[in-house]
Amino acid sequence: MIDDSKHTFIATAAAGLEGVCKRELLRLGFADARAELGCVRFTADFPGAFRACLWLGSADRVLLVMAEGECRTFEELFQLVRSAPFSEVLPRDAAIPVSGRCARSQLMSVRDCQAITKKAIVEHMRSAYHTSALPETGPRYQVDVALHGDVARITIDLCGDALNRRGYRTWNGEAPLRETAAAALVTLSGWRGDTPLHDPCCGTGTLLIEAAFRAAHRAPGLTRGFDVERWPRVDAAALERIREEAKKQYDPARIPAISGSDINPEALELARRHIRQAGLEGRIRVFQRDLRDLQLEEKEICFLTNPPYGERLGDRKQCEALYRQMKPLLQRHPGSRLCVITSHPGFERVAGLRAVKKTRLYNGRLECNFMRF
Ligand SMILES: C[S@@+](CC[C@H](N)C(=O)[O-])C[C@H]1O[C@@H](n2cnc3c(N)ncnc32)[C@H](O)[C@@H]1O
Repeated sequence: MIDDSKHTFIATAAAGLEGVCKRELLRLGFADARAELGCVRFTADFPGAFRACLWLGSADRVLLVMAEGECRTFEELFQLVRSAPFSEVLPRDAAIPVSGRCARSQLMSVRDCQAITKKAIVEHMRSAYHTSALPETGPRYQVDVALHGDVARITIDLCGDALNRRGYRTWNGEAPLRETAAAALVTLSGWRGDTPLHDPCCGTGTLLIEAAFRAAHRAPGLTRGFDVERWPRVDAAALERIREEAKKQYDPARIPAISGSDINPEALELARRHIRQAGLEGRIRVFQRDLRDLQLEEKEICFLTNPPYGERLGDRKQCEALYRQMKPLLQRHPGSRLCVITSHPGFERVAGLRAVKKTRLYNGRLECNFMRF
């Protein structure tokens, strides 16, 4: 078993979301969580890292750090990888695919870095297991070699599918928001899950579902599997207990009034499908409505939305006309707040609103601002 000792893990997150991811890890009890560019570092045993896989909303992946060090030559990379404790983690029959990335490093060929890394792991395993036969017919241990500057980091992925694959979205609408970004926006909105929430441009419903998960204390990864659950040296019973505990915490009765509207009936069809697949039928209401005509009964609503940006959907004029409708929407709902993500740099000017809080982050490749009004 490799569970008793502490290891270094990183939770990767989109640029701008490292702070949100760190806060989530701290809340989960990983007191040494430390944000870096594109990730948050923390120490844990394997059951602890599995808990992070299950519960993190904003992270893309959880990776075990196997080795880190300066590498300017392939020989240095080979030695770094060969001396890492792979045989403590991997069984003899482990399947070991290797992915790679290089940025601003002397070792520029990603393919060669992958090949050297694989060769060094194989050599390490052969020597540790006193055999040349490594069948690779067992569970997957996805290794990644990443060079930034001349520092190499070798990791193993605990997740398998990326963490945004919660299992409820099988049909993509136009410009949907990633589940991980949506979860981060729910956090950044400051919504506490005890007042109504409405997305007036809800599209396929991602923000609504992630908000409902939060309010219901539902672990985002509750119904999906992770590679680490198939690793023979990890205490399967401990992981099962963590999953059972998460199941017990899920309480859909805690979900307040959550609703969404959109002008596009096809997007709403997808939203209904996703809500059903997320097990939230009857807990989230969606309906067709132009934002300009939206009038809700509820009070103190948190309007949380990802409207068109004028880059990927529709043209800029049309989307600016929609932005001008946001202030009247707020005025029709006194006591409510509005939270918007957009890549349009002039949102505040066009909407005639001044943000009380702004966070810069990426939605896919688009640099965006998330603003609270
Ligand atoms: C960027 S998409 C939202 C994607 C959504 N967050 C998701 O995860 O699928 C913007 C949405 O705004 C909707 N929309 C555009 N103009 C609208 C209007 N006047 N009233 C309501 N919805 C509108 C579009 O139909 C589209 O679904």
